[in-house]
Amino acid sequence: MNILVIGSGGREHAFVWKLAQSKKIDHIYICPGNAGTGGIGTNLSIEVNDFRGIKQAVIDYNIKMVVVGPEIPLVGGIHDFFLNDDILREIPVIGPTKRGAMLEGSKKFAKEFMARHSIPTAAYKSFSPNEIPEAYEFMKSLDPPYVIKADGLAAGKGVLILDDIEKAKIEIETIFGGKFGTAGDLIVIEEFLPGIELSVFVITDGKTYKLLPEAKDYKRIGEGDTGLNTGGMGAVSPVMFADEPFIAKVTDRIIKPTINGLKEEGIDYKGFIFFGLINVKGDPYVIEYNVRMGDPETEVVIPRIKSDLFDLLEGVAEGNLEKKRVEVDNRFATTVMMVSGGYPGDYEKGKEIFGLEQTDKLNSVVFHAGTKQSGSRIVSSGGRVLSVTAWGDTLDDSLRESYKNIKMISFENSYYRKDIGFDFDRR
Ligand code: AMP
Ligand code: GLY
Repeated sequence: MNILVIGSGGREHAFVWKLAQSKKIDHIYICPGNAGTGGIGTNLSIEVNDFRGIKQAVIDYNIKMVVVGPEIPLVGGIHDFFLNDDILREIPVIGPTKRGAMLEGSKKFAKEFMARHSIPTAAYKSFSPNEIPEAYEFMKSLDPPYVIKADGLAAGKGVLILDDIEKAKIEIETIFGGKFGTAGDLIVIEEFLPGIELSVFVITDGKTYKLLPEAKDYKRIGEGDTGLNTGGMGAVSPVMFADEPFIAKVTDRIIKPTINGLKEEGIDYKGFIFFGLINVKGDPYVIEYNVRMGDPETEVVIPRIKSDLFDLLEGVAEGNLEKKRVEVDNRFATTVMMVSGGYPGDYEKGKEIFGLEQTDKLNSVVFHAGTKQSGSRIVSSGGRVLSVTAWGDTLDDSLRESYKNIKMISFENSYYRKDIGFDFDRR
């Protein structure tokens, strides 16, 4: 059968790479894709938000399943668009409907959902623009630092952590003044939780769920986790402190109450759930929900799944996920992101990428993030350009392989962090 993947990053290349290994798939189409996905399937120059264009592609290419990578079309209601269309209704969409996607699309909705289902998260209150004095009073009741979040989607930039209450108040005013557009029409202020973060993923058909490998990503541009936030500069899986007892707590306190909560609230959730967690002295708390896989986490999670990904997605679509098994590769997988110089600030695009053919094709895989084909050349087309994943029996082995391969690739003014995994004991 033919399948359509929506998105254009490393996450989508990882999906396409894995789906291409399934015997049940004839052809993969990608909207809009990148040079990496174009080397496996067919890229269609249709943007992720162009639901009508996507509909036409589904008809023209006889698509029988749609996998949605990024959050924007999900929060925008792509699944509902399919359900409300006579032609598309029967085509399964992997990704929640608009209501389910509010877990990511509205921080206030997510916090209230967690409160209703007793899911551990930071204490919080939400405020609207006419409640600045109340927001200030609430901050006074908290210890610094102050965590201020724009309610809506802000491309990963909508969270501010400030030590000074007066500066925090000024930031609140600028958010209400439009710093994050309508995403900042509401804010959530919450207690700061000290701890180590990790990302836990499940896939669900709305009835049951399967746990996928966990990961840790490295969000800051600079080594030692310093400097500006990015989309993610690298990731590792497994996460060593996420041992069985810890994952049991995550399952009992967070995953099961979330799946049951969705069911109780009549939200038929079919897709991935990404739990952004923080480990506070051995206890997991939810920092955020995402209604999709992470990027670059997918570039280490998918390479550790041995089972046929399409078979799992079919389980989601048909509502028999319970019968499926997720087999996991016990080796470590690590990925290092190669970015354009200047990112996450201004950067240049269109740089020719060299050396891709020299990388080890057995023990590593290069996922394209921001690339495009330009005649016979592959050129950069975004801030995050390539994600170099490798496997190893230890974290060290795996990182060594990722770095060995990334060194073979070059483009003008490229940059990558040399210290992915630095915070783990390497023995
Ligand atoms: P988010 O966009 O919600 O993932 O937040 C961005 C980052 O802010 C997270 O990855 C955390 O590092 C940090 N963060 C968010 N909320 C909290 C919190 N309540 N306590 C500590 N750190 C937080
Ligand atoms: N790497 C974090 C995210 O995908 O949101």
